[in-house]
Amino acid sequence: MIKEDKEIVAKIKELKKKRNAIILVHNYQLPEVQDIADFRGDSLELSRIAAKTEAKVIIFCGVYFMAETASILSPDKLVIMPDVSAGCPMANMMNAQDLKKLKHEHPGAVAVGYVNTSAAVKAELDYCCTSTNAVAVVNALKNEKEIIFVPDKYLADYVSKKSGRKLITWHGFCPTHVKILPEDLKREKKFHPQAKVMVHPECLASVVAMADVVLSTSQMAKFAKEDPAKEFIIGTEAGLLYRLKQDNPDKEFYLASERAVCPNMKRTTQEKVLWALEELKEEVRVSDEIRKKARLAIDRMLAII
Ligand code: 13P
Ligand code: SF4
Repeated sequence: MIKEDKEIVAKIKELKKKRNAIILVHNYQLPEVQDIADFRGDSLELSRIAAKTEAKVIIFCGVYFMAETASILSPDKLVIMPDVSAGCPMANMMNAQDLKKLKHEHPGAVAVGYVNTSAAVKAELDYCCTSTNAVAVVNALKNEKEIIFVPDKYLADYVSKKSGRKLITWHGFCPTHVKILPEDLKREKKFHPQAKVMVHPECLASVVAMADVVLSTSQMAKFAKEDPAKEFIIGTEAGLLYRLKQDNPDKEFYLASERAVCPNMKRTTQEKVLWALEELKEEVRVSDEIRKKARLAIDRMLAII
């Protein structure tokens, strides 16, 4: 680490203490940001930490819907994003009006939504879910006749196949994960025939069909540690490789596609984290009206798993 970087990290540590702040970092963030995390995890884990932390300030290094979720779960905390322009294009593919219309068209249906949605959309949901628990949430709704599942059509397809339920879906998708193609997996499997294939459920159905396991980002981290395999092909955003390599220096990880990079996840840097701690900006806060309704959907999810 060069001298300037060491100074930044030292200042971050000092200010963090002074502000009584915690730094939450998603698994896709830049290595330099992962290095300063108090906690690094997937959407579900970060939500759980946000709900129970004693810290006064949460510095959220991820994308906007994740910081909003933290604010919904911890309304008495100051939730700060070092770069507030880091959004999730999938979350932006559906707004509250779209969901209201879909619910109107299917009046008896229960509405389940991926955590990759705005707080305003969550306020219209009955249940929230993440990539970790989407199948479990749908399985828990066996008495419901109709289920709306939004916004990701590929996650919906995966959940529908796993649960055996027909779902009412939306046309959202992750522009990063759809860049991973079946031919990428074919090529990597040819080069590394012994490798296990792990993919994220946001991938194309044709990619999911070729995987050994379909997991959230932290589930992939756990699987890589526990599975006896020594080589893995990774079908998700490139940022996860840093953690996988760090945790398993004796194993090999091959990214299915170098194109699977989420530009929004790369907006946050150490400097921006330092400025965020200095200025306590930009705050992400969800209005009380939206928060109360959105919280119900998140709490119902947390009660299932
Ligand atoms: P995870 O919850 O698996 O970390 O996924 C979040 C995400 O945005 C995937 O693109
Ligand atoms: Fe959104 Fe995809 Fe980026 Fe995840 S990887 S934050 S789903 S755009």
